Amino acid sequence: MKELKLALLGFGVAGKAFSQILLDRHDAIWEDKGLDVKVTAITTGRSGCLVDPEGIDLARALELMEARGSFQPGDPGYRETDSLTVVREGDYDALIEMTPTNIKNGQPAIDYLTWALERDKHVITANKGPVAFAYGRLKKLAREKGRCFFYETSVMVGTPLFNMAETCLPYCKVKGVRGLLNASCNYFLEELGRGRSFDHIMEEARRAGFLEADPSQDLDGWDAAVKLTALMNVFMNAEMDPARVERTGIRGVTADQAREALARGKKIRLLCQGHMDCEGRPVAVVRPEEIPFDDPLAASDLVACLRLDTDLMGPISIGHHKMEPGQTGYGLFSDLVRLVRHVAETL
Ligand SMILES: NC(=O)c1ccc[n+]([C@@H]2O[C@H](COP(=O)([O-])OP(=O)(O)OC[C@H]3O[C@@H](n4cnc5c(N)ncnc54)[C@H](OP(=O)(O)O)[C@@H]3O)[C@@H](O)[C@H]2O)c1
Repeated sequence: MKELKLALLGFGVAGKAFSQILLDRHDAIWEDKGLDVKVTAITTGRSGCLVDPEGIDLARALELMEARGSFQPGDPGYRETDSLTVVREGDYDALIEMTPTNIKNGQPAIDYLTWALERDKHVITANKGPVAFAYGRLKKLAREKGRCFFYETSVMVGTPLFNMAETCLPYCKVKGVRGLLNASCNYFLEELGRGRSFDHIMEEARRAGFLEADPSQDLDGWDAAVKLTALMNVFMNAEMDPARVERTGIRGVTADQAREALARGKKIRLLCQGHMDCEGRPVAVVRPEEIPFDDPLAASDLVACLRLDTDLMGPISIGHHKMEPGQTGYGLFSDLVRLVRHVAETL
């Protein structure tokens, strides 16, 4: 029986959602491709690790994490170890990296991916940090090693974007991108337009649990800038980092401004735009702008949306309408299926 062994780094929202889909679709992959996909390691930051080269009982691991929020001594496969040790010494074929994003420099995730590729392992990441800070380097290493490096979930939560462009737009150049990349900012701006104050929305978002303890990543445009950088690195070989993005967040937008814009038939949105100038330098801007109602980016029910300006197909827009943890899992799973196809073809 052919196997594909996975090491999972991170077992939070993304890790659990991915694992659930893998459990549900494991047999379908086996029937379709003759490949038994096994998880041989799960690491977390402070919540314990599981390691079993024969395959971890994933359903049990999910149950334990749901019930207790951690893995503990006595759990099947429990091991005192850490991510770097697993990456450097563990028994796996592909690393699935789902640790928190470090928006300052993308670490330690970049090191995890680099070590895994150096060991001739395939890598999949949900984390925009490595794509924003080290895309060129990681892509080159993956190519040299003949290994896959996929990152569909890192921008727009698994909406087919990178994989779609790579498989469905062959030899088509992306000349520019324009979109809304931060769902929290969209929500804030929509609520401001309903006349509610910034502080009130902030308090409610915190209570509902969808605002970070440190909201500056979203509200000051950092999250959007890191995602825009990732897009430009992948689609335009921009080789830039997020410090190159001209960035203005949404804290300065008032309810009055949002309502005045509405009265003029426009909505304020945190718009992300990027292209390469005529000298081949990246131009990337994140700032609140007024968008006319008839522009798809103004739709109230869009969580995120992106327009790719291409040379052979003109503009192409793609968006998603709802935010659910399963989508994060599916983006990772779609990368896994791409990897499975690659592995099955080369067996
Ligand atoms: N959630 C989404 O909808 C979504 C969408 C797209 C992309 N992503 C990306 O996916 C990644 C994970 O997001 P998430 O929502 O799953 O975060 P999360 O719910 O906060 O979970 C993070 C997980 O990573 C673990 N962790 C922290 N440091 C680690 C380390 N050094 N090695 C191994 N594990 C470590 C944490 O363990 P402890 O709890 O023990 O610290 C936890 O299990 C992030 O990069 C995020 O940007 C998430």
